Amino acid sequence: MKLSVIGCGYLGAVHAAAMASIGHDVVGIDVDVRKIEALQQGHAPFYEPGLPEILQQGIASGRLRFTTDMSEAADATVHFVGVGTPQQRDGDAADLTYVNAAIDDLLPFLKPDDIVVGKSTVPVGTAAQLTPRVDAVGATLVWNPEFLREGWAVQDTIHPDRIVVGIPPTEAGTRASNILREVFHTATANDTPFIVTDLATSELVKVAANAFLATKISFINAMAEIAEVTGADVTQLADAIGHDDRIGRRFLGAGIGFGGGCLPKDIRAFAARAEELGRGESVAFLREVDEINVRRRDRAVQLVVGALGRQVYNKRVTVLGAAFKPHSDDIRDSPALDVAVRLRGLGALVTVTDPAALANAQAQHPQLTYVHDRDAALQGADAVIVVTEWDEYRRNLTPEHAASLVNQRIIVDGRNCLDPSAWRAAGWSYYGMGRP
Ligand code: UDX
Repeated sequence: MKLSVIGCGYLGAVHAAAMASIGHDVVGIDVDVRKIEALQQGHAPFYEPGLPEILQQGIASGRLRFTTDMSEAADATVHFVGVGTPQQRDGDAADLTYVNAAIDDLLPFLKPDDIVVGKSTVPVGTAAQLTPRVDAVGATLVWNPEFLREGWAVQDTIHPDRIVVGIPPTEAGTRASNILREVFHTATANDTPFIVTDLATSELVKVAANAFLATKISFINAMAEIAEVTGADVTQLADAIGHDDRIGRRFLGAGIGFGGGCLPKDIRAFAARAEELGRGESVAFLREVDEINVRRRDRAVQLVVGALGRQVYNKRVTVLGAAFKPHSDDIRDSPALDVAVRLRGLGALVTVTDPAALANAQAQHPQLTYVHDRDAALQGADAVIVVTEWDEYRRNLTPEHAASLVNQRIIVDGRNCLDPSAWRAAGWSYYGMGRP
């Protein structure tokens, strides 16, 4: 099938390459010339395991190409819109500028019976607002939220755990959902749940899923706060409640909390939209979820300050990690970098290392010192803090080796990813998040 993918960021670039890898003929379109040049040469413009391989295969097969020229969408019959919906500069709501622009730019090239598939995360009601414009040219607008996780995006796109399609209550809507079944043939052949619903539900499914995940993380971080004043261990607590199938252990990792380009802005946009709809109280708890999350960053900073005997000025602090999570170079709303910046603000000499995110971090926070080599970054440290649980830090760094590099054996485990007994046995003062 001939597909276009408008917006080639974390979502669109992966979607375009993944669709080509399952046999479709795909054109990826973006306004960013540098991004398109990189993609066209088979280079992923961001770190995503497996993406370079499927990009290069797709381009070599002739089924995948990238352009800045929207007119090239004219050949396609199914058009995915995966542009960003960032938080507004002066508020919590989502900024729909790019979604509106993508639809406006695409309209002149749409043909009757074409299908426009919104993938961007949008406030509920957006698809209904856009529908008349798409209807006017005889095409059909549907919504197909994306649940991919950065770091696992290729696998999540080709083998999603569910496919949700919001359609209008018309014959054209039903036809569109049948065509999407064919587009996602590898998943539907494996009996992946394929949920056809109305437009509003499909928009809400996405924000509800992210709100639930954020709430789960903040729940366990709230338990960490209680553990801190009672001497309890939140990781054991998470293991114990996680054995209950109704609760589950995943996303009960207490630490410095969630960040990234999705969870923080999505819960804020959801709360803002609910307020617009006169139902602010229904998701008022999301404000609390946000506050708990940000408090954990303060806590991590306090642990470093306390461990250094409140003498932070001119102390060397090595920050292990900059990305908002491992297997990613994404630093959007990264708790890791926020902690680093706060420590620098207190006068510490902060050295940051990360296997993938240093270039992005340096561009955004030039006041910090960046060192690529982990061991060089640890050299002479008065305190070390782990803020992104890359294997380089949680598996491949032994407390004995780290001890041979640092000035003082102080380790703050901002992700509860180290074995406290092993670090203590090697002479370290170990501080976890919500653990004694
Ligand atoms: C998220 C959703 O998981 C995905 O379905 C949606 O499509 C986009 O938003 P992503 O932003 O890639 O994906 O990251 P995710 O793996 O969900 O992690 C988000 C943040 O939560 C990270 O900062 C991570 O470190 C943190 N986290 C995760 C915790 O603090 N504890 C946990 O137990 C799990």
